[in-house]
Order: sequence, then C-alpha cells, then structure tokens
Amino acid sequence: MTDRIVVFSGTSNRPLAARIASHLGQALGEVEITRFGNDNTFVRVLENVREADVFVVQTSCPPVNDHVMELLILIDALKRASARRITAVLPYYPYVRSDKKDAPRIPITARLVADLLVAAGANRVLTMDLHAPQIQGFFTIPTDQLEALPLLCDAVASLGLRDLVVVAGDVGRANFARDYAHRLDAGLALGDKKRVGDHVEVYDIIGDVGAKHAVIVEDEIATGGTIAATASLLRRRGARSVYVTATHAIFAPRAPMALDAVGIDGIYVTDTVPLHPDCTPARTEVVSVGALFAEAIRRIHGGESVSSLFR
Ligand code: R5P
Repeated sequence: MTDRIVVFSGTSNRPLAARIASHLGQALGEVEITRFGNDNTFVRVLENVREADVFVVQTSCPPVNDHVMELLILIDALKRASARRITAVLPYYPYVRSDKKDAPRIPITARLVADLLVAAGANRVLTMDLHAPQIQGFFTIPTDQLEALPLLCDAVASLGLRDLVVVAGDVGRANFARDYAHRLDAGLALGDKKRVGDHVEVYDIIGDVGAKHAVIVEDEIATGGTIAATASLLRRRGARSVYVTATHAIFAPRAPMALDAVGIDGIYVTDTVPLHPDCTPARTEVVSVGALFAEAIRRIHGGESVSSLFR
C-alpha cells in the first residue's frame, strides 16, 4: 500500500469530514456527487486513489436512505478506482435502532446495512456509540467503535458541580451510565421507561436523586420524548438541576418544544450528526469528535491500537 491516507466525504456531514481531514493535516479528497434527471445518484472520484488507504465519511441523517445509497455508490467508485483499502466512517450508523427481531415479520435493517457495505466493497468500518454493542457482530469485516464518553464527561466535569447523579434513560443504558458515573465520581440511577407506540412513559427512577444535579446519559436524542419524561420525573423527585449528554443529536422537529418545555439546564451533544438551528433545543452545546476520528484513522492506517484511546 502507498503511505497515503485520503479522506472523502459524502454529502451528509461535510463539516465533520472536513474537521477530520484538517486534524490529519490535509484537505478532503475531491469527488463530484450529483443527481441525474431520473433521480439516480452519480459519483465521480476526481483524484487518483490507486493503492491508497481511503476513508469515506458518511453519517446517518435525513434523507437517510439517499445518504446510504450515496455511500454505497461512493465506495463502489473507489473500489473500481483501485483503492487498496476502503474504510466506511459512519459517525452515526444508519438504521442502528433496527437491531433485533422483537416482533413477527420485521427486518433487522442494521444488519442489512452491514451486508450492503461489504457488498459495495468496504474493508473496514469505523463508527461511534452503536445503540447496542452487539451490533458489531453484524459485520464480517473489522469494525472499530469509538466512544464519545470521555469528551462528554469532560464537558460535564467542566461545570464543576458536586453531588452529581448519572441517570440511565432505561435499563438497557445501565452499563453505559455506570461508565459515566465512575468517570464523574457520581451516583447512579435508572429510569424505568416503556415506549408505547410513539409515546414514552417513565414510571419510576430507581436510585437517589433528591437534591442532586442529575445528568441523563443517552446514545441519541430523537424526538426528545425519553429525555423530557425522565427530566420531569427527576424534578418531581427533587433533583436540583437536570443536564443531558447524548452522542447523536438527531433532534426531530418536535424535539426543541419537548425539551424546552421541561427546562433542561444544559444539553451536551457531539457533531456526529449536523445540527439545524430550527431543530436545536435551548442550551445545547456541541463537542466535536473530529479530532478523535482523525486520531483513530491515523492509528488504523499505522496499525496501532484504537481501543487504547479509551483505556
Ligand atoms: C432508545 O433506546 C435510545 O437509547 C434513546 O432513548 C432513544 O433513541 C431516544 O429517542 P427519543 O428522543 O425519540 O425518545
């Protein structure tokens, strides 16, 4: 392989891709991505990638299906242009919540996406905070999963608050929340949440939250329903303040209204997904994962450990 790293971006999150490339001391690879009159996506790689170590950044955000298809087409173009190795860099993995068959006659779309990436020509995957760690098992190619936890913990720690309690939105987040609690030297509490159709009910908070500064930790915020319901109950149980951290700020159009209504004291998210001003709740702070992805890319290219970034 030549000693060249080339970072390409799809159209989903060019600002993050540019930050990653800039941390690697280079510009984004040149590519043309257009639509024909028949709505077909067309991609042309505008520079030589023969024998290069290529990284393609594409996140999941609306229009999700178009971005997935664009990613597959871009990988196909790079494979046919003789790139030696192609890593799909997916800051927020598409269809990540469709990861189990928990009702009859439904798909496991996260697995389907994994198969499509391999069929297109991806040799590796680099992603961040999958909804469930076992999704890594969907891949037949090497997969590295980065964690936003250290960056988001630093953001919370910079508030200088004492008497913190980390709150998992539901039991499935318990391990994730425990890691936050250890790192922040905080207590731990769990929400007893049930999703009924499109509606979220939080029946109970298990753990001591009275007179504490609560930090709800989530992998993603979509409608904001989980956070709003958990925050309301935390306030009724006497929490002094409620902060939120989430890796993926999906922020559906109704999220600002839902979250602003309960008055969250601070929301810390990353830039895995681009934020739109109209859909961003008040008191939202963005922590960039650009440098972390760049360092992971540097290590993958150099054959160094990626997991040691988190030890
Ligand atoms: C679900 O299991 C996830 O961890 C989040 O709780 C969920 O994606 C949040 O969605 P929403 O903001 O729509 O409640």
